[in-house]
Amino acid sequence: MTVLDHPLVGVLVTELRDERTPVERFREVVEQLGRLLAYEALREVRVREKAVRTPVAGATGTRLAASPTVVCILRAGAGLTPGVLSLIPGARMGHLGMARDEATLEPRTYYDKLPPDVADGPVLLCDPMLATGGSAVAAVELLAGRGCRDVTFLGVIAAPEGVKRLTEAHPEVPLVLAALDERLDGRGYIVPGLGDAGDRIFGT
Ligand code: URA
Repeated sequence: MTVLDHPLVGVLVTELRDERTPVERFREVVEQLGRLLAYEALREVRVREKAVRTPVAGATGTRLAASPTVVCILRAGAGLTPGVLSLIPGARMGHLGMARDEATLEPRTYYDKLPPDVADGPVLLCDPMLATGGSAVAAVELLAGRGCRDVTFLGVIAAPEGVKRLTEAHPEVPLVLAALDERLDGRGYIVPGLGDAGDRIFGT
């Protein structure tokens, strides 16, 4: 697990935590954190050589070896993906809708739209809040069922309960986070957290 260790990340997360932060700014900061999380998550991504010509001479540069897929867990994940895509504009996008089944309390997938070749490159799975870990585990398992072997989870704030559940179920999935908080409360909110990320991103 990597928790971004940078003073500017701390400042951005503090803005998100502040209940007075207006929706426009909240959205902007989530997007910025998406960019920073993707930057860290792709640190070890495979590249190939690429020849280019500068106005002065030939140069050997790099390109990504395989196109990544950004997978957003609806709805709050949609706040992170613009920042992630700003770094890798050629990435494919996938969407997963997960809701809690009130009978079993387990996540149920109500929407699933992934590119057919999702397994051909790295997958960045985006959800700002890793709370119980139920949706993240379900999403990783759905992706594994489609053949994905290189999945990284990107989140803004995690609870230790969610980290434990995801890493015990899928130790092969690296986690890249902006903050690790204290605990979950009785309603499943991360403490101190930032409240409901979806509500604060979309102003609902
Ligand atoms: N989802 C959120 O948006 N916030 C939490 O605190 C927990 C889950």
